[in-house]
Amino acid sequence: MRVAALIIAIDGPAAAGKGTLARRLAAHFGLPYLDTGLLYRAVARRVLDHGGDPADQQAAARAAAALTAEDLTRDDLRTDDVDRAASVVAGQAPVRAALLAFQRHFAASQGAVLDGRDIGTVVLPEAPVKLFVTAAPAARAERRWRERAAAPEDLARITAELALRDAQDAARAIAPLRPAADAVTLDTTALDPEAAFQAALAIVLAIIGARSPLS
Ligand code: DC
Repeated sequence: MRVAALIIAIDGPAAAGKGTLARRLAAHFGLPYLDTGLLYRAVARRVLDHGGDPADQQAAARAAAALTAEDLTRDDLRTDDVDRAASVVAGQAPVRAALLAFQRHFAASQGAVLDGRDIGTVVLPEAPVKLFVTAAPAARAERRWRERAAAPEDLARITAELALRDAQDAARAIAPLRPAADAVTLDTTALDPEAAFQAALAIVLAIIGARSPLS
């Protein structure tokens, strides 16, 4: 199913199931998909690779300006050190400014599904469909722990780090994590990926149906 220039903005905290859901919605509607968290991860990776400090705004801004498509395909963007550094660079205005045009351009021509923290509030506030995907902290920590295939004793550390990152993402002055006023919240705590997809699809179809001049 392909819907012309449909833009679906998906925001929410870490490990809430945004990525899996966004990929499935993109495939269903034949839309390109952008995981915007990868942009911040790639900036963080570049800073760390150059021996820089993620809190150094100039180093992070240089890394953001130099970002290439290959940086996004690296297989070392989902590590604990990048988790921490990405949250730090994501709080910096020059980094966010450098990445904004790319994200808007990505959605402009043929529509897209984007997931992140500020897609519905800052990047694409005009998106017709906005989902805020969340889940209980313990469920999200367990998902992240499984994804990383971490040792049993790592669950407590992962839970604490996730809480810290969420607090950082939500408390920052610029583009904080929060639902857009017109976002529909989907809590995936008790949903497996298929149930989350079906719930999200029903929301999207209801919104597009309600907006269609033919309905
Ligand atoms: O979704 P993620 O865990 O891959 O995101 C990595 C970091 O980037 C996380 O700290 C939140 C931040 N981020 C952001 O500030 N804005 C976005 N649109 C996407 C991610």
